[in-house]
Amino acid sequence: MKRIICEGPNRLSGEFFPQGSKNGALPLLASCIIFDTIIKINNVPDIEDINTMLSILICIGCKCQYVNNSIIIDSRQINNYEIGWELASKMRASFDLLGSLVYRFGKAVIPFPGGCLIGNRKVDMHLWVTKQLGFEVKIDSGNVIVSDFNPKHANEEISFWIPSVGVTKNATFLGLFVSKETKKKIVFHNIAIEPEITNLWDFLIKNGLNLSYDINKRVLQIFPSNPQFDSLINVDNIYDRIEAGTFAIATCTTKGSILIKDNDDPNYSLKIMLSKLWELLSLIGTEIKFDKEYIELKSHKPLSSFEISTDVYPNFPTDLQPQMVSLATSIEGMSVVKENLFDDRFVYVGELLRLGADINVVNNKFAIINGGKILKGAPLKATDIRGGAAILIAALIAQGTSIITNTFQIYRGYEKIVEKLSKLGANIYEEAEKVLEATNIY
Ligand code: EPU
Repeated sequence: MKRIICEGPNRLSGEFFPQGSKNGALPLLASCIIFDTIIKINNVPDIEDINTMLSILICIGCKCQYVNNSIIIDSRQINNYEIGWELASKMRASFDLLGSLVYRFGKAVIPFPGGCLIGNRKVDMHLWVTKQLGFEVKIDSGNVIVSDFNPKHANEEISFWIPSVGVTKNATFLGLFVSKETKKKIVFHNIAIEPEITNLWDFLIKNGLNLSYDINKRVLQIFPSNPQFDSLINVDNIYDRIEAGTFAIATCTTKGSILIKDNDDPNYSLKIMLSKLWELLSLIGTEIKFDKEYIELKSHKPLSSFEISTDVYPNFPTDLQPQMVSLATSIEGMSVVKENLFDDRFVYVGELLRLGADINVVNNKFAIINGGKILKGAPLKATDIRGGAAILIAALIAQGTSIITNTFQIYRGYEKIVEKLSKLGANIYEEAEKVLEATNIY
């Protein structure tokens, strides 16, 4: 694994092209299992989590080809409904396969998932929904075993107690199976409406699956369907709003300027998907201009301190919470960042303290940041994907050299991040991890 060396301070400036969405591509990949045909997904980022998902798909019998950010998946020969622990433990999205495997086989064996260490990431509601839909669910040797669908036990109207992203994805595939078998409508209430999920639904609808959603009421309705598929299905992934948000925040932190490529899609442009971020950045003094194809940010004046609170879409995304804490370290005065989705998402703060930041984390709920202190470069360890991005942003403004290790976490979510930052003028590079060898042992 490479480590990242950053010489600071830096000021970012230039043009930025967003990658395809990680959390958009993962459910599209999982959905390939339900289509008994060949699918081409365009604009898929070349990152570790995508490679893990591809390895899982290959292990269960899919043929995959990955060229120039497009993936072709042929799931016609798929023959295995059991996922192995070693790959599943690398990321949370391995659990997305529960619903799609059940759609294809009527059953699944899937390990409890891995993923970022940002709290107690339960799967209780996944299991509850699966039971509510009429399946038997057992836990054995760390695996969740779903089997024996009984239509008499299937509930047709189910309300989630929180609008969970993962549960909404699995419920979609499970609901499609149950509706196909029972010929009845299935309705889910209090669903998640993140763009990565609506994009999955749009793709399913376009290809003959019968469902409709209402984002204002948070309702998903699934009707019986058993479509025949074309020989090749093409789908475009959306832009990665979290990668784009990370670069926007990094630019503000370094008091730079950036032109972010966008599109004018009424649902999936970065202008829309990141509206809460633009509102906040402009409120604290960043100059932002929108046009059809670009978003321009200039952050040359001192910014004001701020308060934010994360919540489900369309509110402020938890996946930009750590990066906002790094931004707050560069702003004079006290900022407050509240985390509402995960119960331990401030682990990375320990690394920012090593740079000299003044941050107090209260009950793992709030970070109180006394900004404006001069940060000094240090050896740092990436803790998780977004925490890793926050550490990188803080290293950009720290004076002197920072050496970031455990970069696997960053590369799980960000494609060519060092190259992109370097193109924006940062003094940053990668080098092979040095293996420490004990010498002089007698
Ligand atoms: N939750 C439960 N029970 C469940 C499922 C979830 O209590 O059965 C709780 C979780 O413990 C958590 C909250 O609900 O506290 C939110 O979890 P959710 O299911 O919505 O999130 P997820 O599917 O695990 C996805 C993204 C995360 C992103 C969250 C929230 C993927 C692969 N992951 O996770 O992305 O933070 O939604 O938007 O889509 C990242 O990209 O770095 C990342 C962590």
